[in-house]
Amino acid sequence: MKGEWTKSGWRNKPRIQMPDYPDQDKLDKVQNQLAVSPPLVFAGEVRQLRRQLAQVCEGKAFLLQGGDCAESFQEYDANSIRDTFKVLLQMAVVLTFGAKCPVVKIGRMAGQFAKPRSSPVETIGGVELPSYRGDMINDIAFTPESRIPDPDRMLQAYSQSAATLNLLRAFSHGGYADIKRVHNWTLEYTERNEAEKYHQLASRITDALEFMEAAGVNAEKLTSLKQVDFYTSHEALLLEYEETLSREDSLTGDIIAGSGHFIWIGDRTRQPDGAHVEFCRGVHNPLGIKCGPSISPDDLKILLEKLNPQNEPGRITLIARFGNTKVADYLPHLIQAVKEAGAKVIWSCDPMHGNTEKSSSGYKTRRFENVLGEVRQFFEVHQEEGTIPGGVHFEMTGKDVTECTGGLSAVTDEDLANRYHTACDPRLNSSQALELAFLVAEELATRVSKNSSQNSVQAA
Ligand code: PEP
Ligand code: CO
Repeated sequence: MKGEWTKSGWRNKPRIQMPDYPDQDKLDKVQNQLAVSPPLVFAGEVRQLRRQLAQVCEGKAFLLQGGDCAESFQEYDANSIRDTFKVLLQMAVVLTFGAKCPVVKIGRMAGQFAKPRSSPVETIGGVELPSYRGDMINDIAFTPESRIPDPDRMLQAYSQSAATLNLLRAFSHGGYADIKRVHNWTLEYTERNEAEKYHQLASRITDALEFMEAAGVNAEKLTSLKQVDFYTSHEALLLEYEETLSREDSLTGDIIAGSGHFIWIGDRTRQPDGAHVEFCRGVHNPLGIKCGPSISPDDLKILLEKLNPQNEPGRITLIARFGNTKVADYLPHLIQAVKEAGAKVIWSCDPMHGNTEKSSSGYKTRRFENVLGEVRQFFEVHQEEGTIPGGVHFEMTGKDVTECTGGLSAVTDEDLANRYHTACDPRLNSSQALELAFLVAEELATRVSKNSSQNSVQAA
């Protein structure tokens, strides 16, 4: 089936959610330049991530994926990258403790610049303009010139991604990710009055770390205590960019999308005969498929067959994003379809995209309690179906923004105007993201203890 695949075969399929570039010469030049530029990620890293995700698929590891809805050229600086990385590490330590297994960490970073839109146009005060489609495509300013798709933006996204990855690689391996240091940041958080209720769980992590230290297991002996594997991901939306950055793995001959370790197909572009599925089926990277209320169990089966014909664990992550009021109705049918097909997948929960609403103050927002509600039901459904809730997928930032309401920091509708910086969807701020990690860790811990007591009953 893969026989007829080529990097550019997607061009014969319906072109949706991608811009029509008015300047073909400029587009050609940009593509030629990207085609000779180094890939951002390397085949060995991609293979390693697939192996780690295979562990997630079997329930031996847990997946944490998070970052901006849309990276932007304007909100780009080393501190923002560091802060998001830092919260992701803190969340990972808390989740590791809850899940009692390793956490695979993937940022929505270093490539998340292109956005699908629900409408091709935006109207403000009677003026209609093409929609903003992410900084890699056009500019957010509401003027006719800004909204013209400009191929040069791909080069800027590429160089920003390269610099971001460079920093992430340095942070992952240069001592910044030392588990004790990461945990100390979390202790500082739980020492704040409002976060006190998480202090007990954090103290148990402290005890575990002190015990390991006493038993002679420390960062000098075990590099995994001071270094982390950290991967990047984005939606593979702009296929000109994806195609020109794909490269052959010299060891295996496979084609790798060189734009990021993990790429996903969005909920609006997952048509089984569409361009995005066609491109993704031929690259060897682990793939995500966003699954919203409109996906049918039959389409899902077709997608799994197309994208993972060998049924390899770690290749496919299904990212469920139904919404707090829908997940309990929709998710079981999909899980049953996957079971019927005998397909090996990771189930991850994106509790963001089904829970977006307009606040009374007019901002696009999400309520912390709805986000949490969806995650909890996702766990419950998996418990009922006897399947594995393999991971979570959040839109979040390390900064103290006010974009989602609720949580311990109690952001209200009125607060949204204070620090609403997102270029697209509302993100959890650092405190909301860490709080959610604590709550998910508690869910995981009960599941781990329930399953182990079930196992011991069976064994007895
Ligand atoms: C996203 O993850 O930013 C996104 C657009 O998601 P979805 O395709 O699930 O709507
Ligand atoms: Co989003």
